Amino acid sequence: MLLRVDRRNAGPAIARLRAMGTLERGRLIRRSKEWVEIPLLAPPPPGLGQIVEGETAPVGRQVPPYERAVSSARIPAGLRRLLPDKWERLGRVLLLRLPGRLEGHKVEIARAYAGALGVQTVIRDLSGSRGVLREPTTELLLGERTETVHKENYVRYCFDAASIMFSSGNMAERIRMGKAVRPGETVVDMFAGIGYFSLQMAVHGRPKAVFACELNPVSFRYLVQNISLNKVGRIVIPLEGDCREVAPEGVADRVVMGHFDSLDFLPKALRVLRPEGGVLHVHCLSRKDRIPQEAWDRVRRGMEEGGRRGELVHCERVKSFKPRVWHIVLDVGVK
Ligand SMILES: C[S@@+](CC[C@H](N)C(=O)[O-])C[C@H]1O[C@@H](n2cnc3c(N)ncnc32)[C@H](O)[C@@H]1O
Repeated sequence: MLLRVDRRNAGPAIARLRAMGTLERGRLIRRSKEWVEIPLLAPPPPGLGQIVEGETAPVGRQVPPYERAVSSARIPAGLRRLLPDKWERLGRVLLLRLPGRLEGHKVEIARAYAGALGVQTVIRDLSGSRGVLREPTTELLLGERTETVHKENYVRYCFDAASIMFSSGNMAERIRMGKAVRPGETVVDMFAGIGYFSLQMAVHGRPKAVFACELNPVSFRYLVQNISLNKVGRIVIPLEGDCREVAPEGVADRVVMGHFDSLDFLPKALRVLRPEGGVLHVHCLSRKDRIPQEAWDRVRRGMEEGGRRGELVHCERVKSFKPRVWHIVLDVGVK
């Protein structure tokens, strides 16, 4: 049995229950932003708070957040197995995917996860990212501020998690790009977003310049903000608009093409490279059993049409995207 009290009244309530011998000392007191739940050995005096069913974890045992969330979510027992055991935590914001059967309990679930993971804002991720601009469909379940600062590999990304994607599954690729860039290189990031790759390259490599192109005005605003947040204003040059129009040509040692449709942009990418050549990082989706041949055939044909030759240096498997389909990156050396 637990006593739920308003957070502001928790101190006096705990002291009173302790003095009465009613507090169960072997179990943890559970705290959320608004309330505190106190484990009890016997019914409390009337008017002290609200009695709720359940129990907290024993003292001395580190309870994983998932278990904490499940035990504190007040939903019918039969639905508990549907609660997610994975989530995205982006700074102070939590992104959750919930099946439709939990619709009627979504706010209570958001409260339970917020308490378990110590965040104030919970957003429901309804679909993953969609469309050319990769905008997520989301629903705010708890809290007010959806803007967050997420730290990754010493880079700070500020963005609005309700309207801008940030794929944790791409983390290794972002870090790989930070290591790939060579000192003095000029890089063009054709689909920069909020600076996913450009910032890793500018912070961890020593490029001469990174031209970061972004079409979505909201992402572009955060890109500009993140360049100053990470103090790389002397390296990263933000360019707002369609990369086919704004990316400079004949300048790049390296071109990052971080969009699933990047193969459609190959003619432009080839023009962006220096005449003597360079490296392309071509992102795409590929059937698992056709990696890397399916994508490489398309790149090779595109290079032939653009009057260039090249070799496949490496194929990186970034993440499984859906059954039998992978997000991959081809590193292509172009002459
Ligand atoms: C898929 S997101 C980037 C994802 C990122 N690579 C990651 O790892 O999380 C692609 C970005 O390209 C932008 N974009 C789409 N078409 C564009 C274009 N023609 N020119 C410039 N940016 C574009 C979108 O607005 C979006 O911010």
